[in-house]
Amino acid sequence: MEKIVSLCKRRGFIFQSSEIYGGLNGFWDFGPLGVELKRNLKDFWWRRNVRERDDMVGMDGSIIMNRAVWKASGHEETFSDPMVDCKSCKARHRADQLPEKDGTKYCPNCGSRDLTEPRAFNLMFKSYAGPLESEDNLVYLRPETAQAMFVQFRNVLDTSRQKLPFGIAQIGKAFRNEINPRNYIFRSREFEQMEIEYFCRAEDGLALTDYWLEQRLKFYEDIGIPRDKIHVVDIPDGERAFYSKKTYDLEYEFPFGISELEGIAYRTDYDLSRHIEASGKPLEYHDQEKNEKFVPHVVEPSAGVDRTTLALLCEAFDEETVTDENGKSEVRTVLRFHPRMAPIKVGVFPLLKNKPELVAKAKEVVAKLRPHMAVSYDEAGAIGRRYRRQDEAGTPFCVTVDFDTVGENGPEKADTVTLRHRDSMQQERVNIDELLPRLAAAIL
Ligand code: GAP
Repeated sequence: MEKIVSLCKRRGFIFQSSEIYGGLNGFWDFGPLGVELKRNLKDFWWRRNVRERDDMVGMDGSIIMNRAVWKASGHEETFSDPMVDCKSCKARHRADQLPEKDGTKYCPNCGSRDLTEPRAFNLMFKSYAGPLESEDNLVYLRPETAQAMFVQFRNVLDTSRQKLPFGIAQIGKAFRNEINPRNYIFRSREFEQMEIEYFCRAEDGLALTDYWLEQRLKFYEDIGIPRDKIHVVDIPDGERAFYSKKTYDLEYEFPFGISELEGIAYRTDYDLSRHIEASGKPLEYHDQEKNEKFVPHVVEPSAGVDRTTLALLCEAFDEETVTDENGKSEVRTVLRFHPRMAPIKVGVFPLLKNKPELVAKAKEVVAKLRPHMAVSYDEAGAIGRRYRRQDEAGTPFCVTVDFDTVGENGPEKADTVTLRHRDSMQQERVNIDELLPRLAAAIL
């Protein structure tokens, strides 16, 4: 994990938020490569779950909503973790995460066993909408994106003319005042979620939960996280939320342990019923053909953008010893991202930066590719070093423009370039016109 954290900082994937002021615990910034990686993940999730489906529509709800939403959903009353204080060093901890020795819990900070009784700590961040800091103006930063999709159910249904089963999808920020943010970006206080609320008839709920489990496993495979690295946990009776009839947790083998990436919960008609009761508004579904009116049930696949980004980084990270033609060995650090997730798709280099004809040709190649993918132009240093820089960024392809390209070694080699593959380090000669179709197919 240390190596990954250090690479992420060095190459501009992830920085501590407000770093020059000492940072802020539980908050992170994504740098130039991190933002591209995260965007590729969100774009692909959106494409798979919204654009490629007839039965899904998207929305983008506000982060701050009427407080009544959180009263009705139960968050104001119960969205809390058990907290304890250490009476010795005053550190605060989550009671359910305390280490234990000889059957007694102790403070991981100072080792003392002198701890307070656990008490509920609500995780929602508070603020005030308007100039008065009064109880009437109290609002929360949303702790999940889901509620917007429940409270807009009627509007979306009426405007999209969907029929059951259908889903609403949303990607957005969520905030939780975690007692102990930890494991890098795994548990933070500001993060992003990718959530689906898939509405259905009660009799289809359980089967659709299994259907979504399969869809989500396929998704992770398609972004480069193999099935055997994901542990599916069927949460037993008694451990699920009381309203859920089935919940699967998808866990990934992070270097710090197997931990949750996503939850897929069959939430029955709990959420819509709570909002019907609290708002007095009709959120029922009217099946015209069968002349039936009922409250739909819902299956919710809820994934974390930041956790999946971390899983992509962990899965991609590799170090291997390579030996050059002079017999010199070195350790190559490489991020083996699936090409569709890679922040930069292709590096384009002129062999030498002081040869204007090579530079001009390389820039022509860049101009051809850039409307279709993220391209990095690099003319600094030896070619080997430029390859290594792209390896560390996880760039799957590099293209080098040399004297053959500009026709110095005969017309048959003119307009061909070297295409270098990150994982195998194999190089091949390809025509410039072939580049776009080849690369576009690989990154789709
Ligand atoms: N609407 C359901 C819901 O929010 P959750 O299990 O609390 O369920 C869903 O959260 C996902 O959001 C988690 O599986 C995880 O990927 C992500 N997540 C939750 N808390 C997080 C945190 N503090 N930091 C980063 N990601 C978090």
